[in-house]
Amino acid sequence: MARVLVTRRLPGGMDPLVEAGHELIQPDRERNFTHDELVGMAPEADAIVCLLTDRIDADVLAAGAPRLKVVANVAVGYDNIDIQAAAAHRIVVCNTPGVLDGTTADLAFLLILAAARRLWEAESDLRAGKWPGWDVDQYLGRDVQGAVLGVVGFGRIGQAVARRAAGFGMEVLHHTRRDTGMVGWRGDLDALLAGSDVVTLHVPLTDETRHLINARRLALMKRDAVLVNTSRGPVVDEEALAVALEDGAIFAAGLDVYEREPEVHPRLLAAPRTVLLPHIGSASVATRTRMARVAAENVVAVLAGESPKNPVTGG
Ligand code: DGY
Repeated sequence: MARVLVTRRLPGGMDPLVEAGHELIQPDRERNFTHDELVGMAPEADAIVCLLTDRIDADVLAAGAPRLKVVANVAVGYDNIDIQAAAAHRIVVCNTPGVLDGTTADLAFLLILAAARRLWEAESDLRAGKWPGWDVDQYLGRDVQGAVLGVVGFGRIGQAVARRAAGFGMEVLHHTRRDTGMVGWRGDLDALLAGSDVVTLHVPLTDETRHLINARRLALMKRDAVLVNTSRGPVVDEEALAVALEDGAIFAAGLDVYEREPEVHPRLLAAPRTVLLPHIGSASVATRTRMARVAAENVVAVLAGESPKNPVTGG
């Protein structure tokens, strides 16, 4: 029996660990273990199941080594984990790709529609009793149907958004650094931004993608363009985006992720034509349960001396 540190009580999905007879160490209330608690408990753990809000840095990993064998993130993104430190200690890191694509793509599309059609302003006015009744020039948005969609990053989630766009008669372009060989590939990100009516971001957060969308690139976008981000907040320079929205340099934005979560840049909170959601891309009951289960299965495999299904490093 191994000891598995689970940083937060999860809504489900831990059955594979229980069935394999492992002991789960979890916080007793609905809170995550703190970073200090993780450093303190890591030496006694064979595995850690963690969330994207847990900072699994060199301190946690060094404290866990040599007993700690695997860290399984309940997320597809793993920028919260120090991959180099994990590799140095021969700790396997796993994520949960594949099981959240549709749910996250649905939310990206929701943001595309909501931002383009100014849903938040219209609904807030109505709820606040500020709607004077129908008028011909109220809340005029931009059409999504027939527009050009630029997908930045064309992995599983980007492709799932593209499939949804087909139903709206959109022309889909996509940018990745390497040629995908698929119709619509653009190797030049600047050209894709300049040619798209709606831009949706689906890249992981790395040193290369931090502030990928900055003031210079926002200035390349069409004045009636919509920007949507469901990937990671730091991919967009929030200050620059707020300025672009205030100046009307782009039409609207829909965001699910932020540079310093749970903080949201005050200028974004006040920016016009902006829809802001609290990082709920994968937040359906079925998907969150599947994500937890995949993380648990990855841990079970590593602890059994087998290759996990989703190694990020060390598998
Ligand atoms: C992920 O899995 O990386 C998402 O951000 C969680 O919804």
